[in-house]
Amino acid sequence: MSKTIQLSLLLLVSFLLLPGFSSKPKPYFPKKVNAIIQAKCYGCHSADSKAQKAKDKLMWDDLEKMEKGAQLEKIQSIQKVLEKGSMPPEKFLEKMPEKKLTEKETKEMKKWADKTAKKLSK
Ligand code: HEC
Repeated sequence: MSKTIQLSLLLLVSFLLLPGFSSKPKPYFPKKVNAIIQAKCYGCHSADSKAQKAKDKLMWDDLEKMEKGAQLEKIQSIQKVLEKGSMPPEKFLEKMPEKKLTEKETKEMKKWADKTAKKLSK
């Protein structure tokens, strides 16, 4: 094989491998946050939920697809409920106390919400 062909092959292979090395876009919900949402929030705020009021207020799955301004409003309402500790609702927690957010989970969610709000308000 000539040097030129070897070099071209090397270049070709590097280009093919390149996308694998470039950093992927970050997921909307980081793994840890997603796990918390799934465990503690998703039951009411998702398509299969029967809590129409909850669905009207927040659908986790739609968040990412929303227009930026509307998305920011939702994130801000999430920040508010985290601040107040008002979700999941008190009445529900009386029956399912294990669904209460732990301090650590609240912190993790807040960190994510703060970051996302900042990104959206740029
Ligand atoms: C047992 C069902 C249930 C669970 C679990 C639940 N929610 Fe809700 N959520 C509701 C209902 C019902 C409403 C609507 C309350 C209203 O309109 O007064 C709501 C409203 C909200 C709102 C809108 C608040 C507003 O005033 O605009 C946010 C944000 C929210 N929930 C976040 C969360 C988060 C975060 C979690 C998980 C930590 C969670 N919810 C878990 C039932 C639930």
